[in-house]
Amino acid sequence: MNVLLAVASRHGATWEIGASIASVLTARGQRATLLEPAQVGSVDGYDAVVVGSAVYLTSLLPDARDLVERFGPELQARPLWLFASGLASPSSGARTTTELAALGDQLGARDHRLFRGRLDRAGLSFAERVAAAGVLNREGDHRDFAAIERWAGGIADELEQVQAERARATA
Ligand SMILES: Cc1cc2nc3c(=O)[nH]c(=O)nc-3n(C[C@H](O)[C@H](O)[C@H](O)COP(=O)(O)O)c2cc1C
Repeated sequence: MNVLLAVASRHGATWEIGASIASVLTARGQRATLLEPAQVGSVDGYDAVVVGSAVYLTSLLPDARDLVERFGPELQARPLWLFASGLASPSSGARTTTELAALGDQLGARDHRLFRGRLDRAGLSFAERVAAAGVLNREGDHRDFAAIERWAGGIADELEQVQAERARATA
């Protein structure tokens, strides 16, 4: 199947999570295309979609939200997965979890997941350091690639089921 991974990232950490998911899907025989949301002009030709976004100021990035606005019905019509990555604690990240769950419900996503991200203070502008005050104490790479790959493996399992159902329906 052709799978679109549309991933909004500012400093690359979430993009690398998308790349890791894409490699798992490719290793499992799917065709995965990783794009920034702004590069997505159409979802025609994609059988399934994974939308990912970094979390900034408790929210998904505008490019990810804009993609959902532009293609809502098309995303709803396809097997869809959502993920975000951030560094807030579960309590201070509650707003993000709620946003992700609401988006998942709205679009009928098969699953949504919040992964831990990466923060490199040296790569931030002064304004970003000020804005990131609440998470600056979490500097470092907290991404759990084993968990990310397990999640991607679950997506691959479901895609295989969808393929098998479609093959049965056309037999
Ligand atoms: C300015 C700024 C604000 C942030 N705000 C949040 C936040 O509200 N909640 C959260 O979970 N993480 C927050 N983070 C952490 C980022 O989500 C985390 O570093 C993420 O992995 C960055 O992904 P990226 O490299 O793809 O941009 C913030 C980071 C920065 C620099």
